[in-house]
Amino acid sequence: MALHDPNPQVSDYLAGTHQLFIDGAWQDASSGETFEVHDPATGRCIARVAEGRAADIDRAVAAARRAFDERRWHGLPPERRADILWKLAELFEREARTLAEIDVADNGMPIAFAEWMVGSTIAQLKYYAGMITKVTGRNVSPSIASDAVPMHAYTSVEPVGVAGIIIPWNGPIGTLIIKLAPALAAGCCVVVKPAELTPLSALYAANLMNEAGVPPGVVNIVPGFGKDAGQSLVDHADVDKISFTGSTETGKAIVRSAAANLKRVTLELGGKSPVIVFDDADPDIAIPGAAMGIFANTGQVCFAGSRLFVQKKSYDKVVAGISDFAKSLTIGKGMDPASQIGPLISAGQRDKVASYLETGVREGAEIVTGGSTHGDHGFFVQPTVFANVDASMRIVKEEIFGPVLVATPVDDMDDLVRMANDTRYGLGAGIYTTSVNKAHLVAQKLRAGNVWINGYGVMHAAMPFGGFRESGWGRENGLEGISAFQETKSVFITLNENDRA
Ligand code: NAI
Ligand code: MG
Repeated sequence: MALHDPNPQVSDYLAGTHQLFIDGAWQDASSGETFEVHDPATGRCIARVAEGRAADIDRAVAAARRAFDERRWHGLPPERRADILWKLAELFEREARTLAEIDVADNGMPIAFAEWMVGSTIAQLKYYAGMITKVTGRNVSPSIASDAVPMHAYTSVEPVGVAGIIIPWNGPIGTLIIKLAPALAAGCCVVVKPAELTPLSALYAANLMNEAGVPPGVVNIVPGFGKDAGQSLVDHADVDKISFTGSTETGKAIVRSAAANLKRVTLELGGKSPVIVFDDADPDIAIPGAAMGIFANTGQVCFAGSRLFVQKKSYDKVVAGISDFAKSLTIGKGMDPASQIGPLISAGQRDKVASYLETGVREGAEIVTGGSTHGDHGFFVQPTVFANVDASMRIVKEEIFGPVLVATPVDDMDDLVRMANDTRYGLGAGIYTTSVNKAHLVAQKLRAGNVWINGYGVMHAAMPFGGFRESGWGRENGLEGISAFQETKSVFITLNENDRA
């Protein structure tokens, strides 16, 4: 075992060939094909995974449909389902380090970040376990009361049915559980299509679901490629709902495909989120906050704070501070506890980010720090800050999904809000100020689903998360998170005054 490898138990687990998880059992892909999964810190193959395709998605959807129709899950008493979800949370606690190490091996992220992410999934499982016994409809009778036709009316909320969950690679276990916990709380049966780059933690979690007592067929996991397994799930006529996290481009393609049977769709997509630093901000909070708002997880975060706006008087100081912070970050393998910045997910993503670095220079922007790839193996890129940018540049308009910040000085408050909102996205926005007035005033005017004041990227199971505009449809977490997996039924009972026998 080399220094900073995962512990042997994890490496041994990964070294096998991983099957599909359908109807509570491990199965080969119908085609018999498998694909390789790589460690982005080394580029080495760490595991082989069965490659699900249309026939496997068919099998998984049929299993989920059977489980749903037989009421294997939503037919259980709510207390029982709550116990099972809570038990799953406890198994995630028991296996937290292993789940985190699997995502480090698969995705490259620093171990501390992976452990934080697993912690947030445990909180979500417990939050939604608690919600299972609190789902209610409404008695609407008072609002439709009539002497002429006496009526009793109520609503009930029910699971939407079979849900397809399609997740990306930038936060494998996190993006799975933020969907799976509310889907299960709602009573749905699901088919999960993990990202082809990072399928391993979802597969590991399948064993924990079995151990927790989730009945067979309720959760099915079919790794495979987007164009094949993913597209088959989106096209499937027997799938009632797709919940997707990933690129805006794929999100739009999913909407077009979902039109065939009008399956419900929620989308958590890309962003180009603004971070605003006012002159009166505390630099000890604003500088590290803005820096980690973009550099955390090597910028591979949908709500990464990638556009920085600083009031003119503080601009030089803040940009220099963020650049010094960037230079001080330790780049390295995720399993090295000293690493603060891991690799990008793949050679392709590294090349994409590197090409944006070249584009920025060609467009006339100035590199304040960083600007190139790092090291001679793995997919590392230096944290980079660009200055002298303008709104027409591609590095200012497009989601780079790497550790690249573009900085702009501004003074006038109206300009600030206009420039911050000058994007087709609307996921996150950050404000650093010590003025309560400015914080609230600007928060009201920003067109974004999440606004963070004096601390970027805070998430909580109880707070809805999602985007305006091309950042998506719907919300995850909170009450909205479970609603996304429910249908509402209105029931009218016409009463008969003459029923006096
Ligand atoms: P992607 O959005 O295509 O992939 C995300 C998931 O969707 C994966 O599981 C993939 O297999 C699946 N998928 C792909 N095509 C599909 C289809 N036609 N039908 C159903 N499922 C499909 O993103 P990809 O290709 O991994 O990365 C491309 C770029 O997208 C990245 O460079 C990054 O800029 C952006 N991205 C943004 C994310 C975010 O959270 N905002 C997450 C991942 C990628
Ligand atoms: Mg991988």
